[in-house]
Amino acid sequence: MKILMVSSEAMPFAKSGGLGDAVTSLAKALSRLGHDVRILIPRYYFIDRKSLESLEGGMGVPIGTEEHWTAVYESVLPKSDVPVYFLDYEKYYGRSGVYGDSADQEYLDNPERFALLSRAAFQLCRKLRWIPDIMHVHDWPTSLVPVYLKTLEKKTEFRETASVLTIHNLGYQGVYPKEHFPFFRLDWGEFFGSGFEFHDAINLLKAGITAANCLSTVSPTYSREIQTPSQGFSLDGLLRHRSRDLVGILNGIDTEVWNPETDEYLPAHYSVDDLSGKAVCKLVLQETLGLPSDPTVPLFGIVTRLTDQKGIAEMFGPGYGALPQVCANMDVQMAVLGSGDKWCEDEIRALSQRFANFKGRIGYDERLAHLIEAGSDFFIMPSRYEPCGLNQMYSLRYGTLPVVHRTGGLADTVENYCQDTGEGTGFMFDDLTPKALYNTIGWATWAWYNRQEHIDLMRFKAMTRDFSWEKSASEYTALYSRALAMRKSEVG
Ligand code: ADP
Ligand code: GLC
Repeated sequence: MKILMVSSEAMPFAKSGGLGDAVTSLAKALSRLGHDVRILIPRYYFIDRKSLESLEGGMGVPIGTEEHWTAVYESVLPKSDVPVYFLDYEKYYGRSGVYGDSADQEYLDNPERFALLSRAAFQLCRKLRWIPDIMHVHDWPTSLVPVYLKTLEKKTEFRETASVLTIHNLGYQGVYPKEHFPFFRLDWGEFFGSGFEFHDAINLLKAGITAANCLSTVSPTYSREIQTPSQGFSLDGLLRHRSRDLVGILNGIDTEVWNPETDEYLPAHYSVDDLSGKAVCKLVLQETLGLPSDPTVPLFGIVTRLTDQKGIAEMFGPGYGALPQVCANMDVQMAVLGSGDKWCEDEIRALSQRFANFKGRIGYDERLAHLIEAGSDFFIMPSRYEPCGLNQMYSLRYGTLPVVHRTGGLADTVENYCQDTGEGTGFMFDDLTPKALYNTIGWATWAWYNRQEHIDLMRFKAMTRDFSWEKSASEYTALYSRALAMRKSEVG
């Protein structure tokens, strides 16, 4: 099949979280299955033009009141032949951020920025004389693509092109004042008809969910959770309505990038047969962050966006978060990397001063993220909700046992420890409270000091579990076939 992925992020060019990893590694897996898959993303300012090929001639994109004159660049995903196209348009993408200059300050013209990208997807295919069978879009930024297929592009050369929308995070829906609507070049009738309307504002994801032929989310448990009022972010009714076309397909991980035997960021390599390199990583991690060098103390790692979704209140909330108490009362160490909410960044800085066994770094640091995954013994991820979560899969592969809240993709990928048999791959709790988190870290610490043979067993099991994309990529192929059949009956 010919598949165009339209996305706001794709590793290694642009990434703000797991979306960038997921899009790239899925595309590579689909290509290995023999599909002709290509990716379109914006050329943000930080993507160096010099490393890209320029596609001849410009490209006009009719949107808003004018035809916007854009340029297109081309490259391939590293270690693959998957083409990546970059939409170049200074006015919208010539900035330092993907969605905003910081996590809490998004660009006010994001509806225009991503509408241009969505509309450009069609112009690009025309320019390439390559009409895809599937347009696969991701989250709210590219949710207009399925709407265009149902409206402006219904009777064009795209009449046999079907759409699939993957929801990576229902918590972000792209809600904007309706004054932006005319820019999309759709009739006002579509404001209601295509499902944009949301409390008198525009909801891009809602329109995408309404229009797409098929929908997916990134884990089976999350696909069920988002159909309930407590986790549905006001769209659970619509998702229940579309439940026959919605599947949960677990993300895989890029096993070339995340492999302890070859990881280029690590000071030493290791495998399930020989963990000596992991001990070196632990030592280097302790040195890097200024923790006391000690191979015997259990080291807990955290790598995360510092947002409410990730359980930061339960971990760091001043006066009630679990982690300061853990550091005060237990013989453990903590290594933290993250960026996001300001109060939490400040708290992490303060805890690093207060405790010798707690060291945190604020910022985005790919190398340190890999080192924490490899050098830690346990990985803490108490997410309030987690559509899939990649970090716990990375940590399993690196023999770093996750401590997680039983939700979404965490519930689908981690198996709880059984202290009678040593079965399991991690430590889970059901209620997201500081107390439950404190106790579960205590449980892992107890196992470390008293049941080292179980830890070894769990590590073995975790490291040998298959998290590759192959199975999931086949499930996407089946979903594409379904979407194509639906498109056929839609256009008649
Ligand atoms: P989400 O996409 O919700 O943030 P995921 O677990 O799916 O959660 O993906 C997070 C990705 O972002 C992982 O690849 C993780 O290593 C990376 N990441 C998050 N914060 C940082 C950071 N401060 N530095 C480096 N990598 C980070
Ligand atoms: C989102 C989710 C995360 C998921 C990622 C990739 O950012 O928060 O759980 O792993 O997308 O699908």
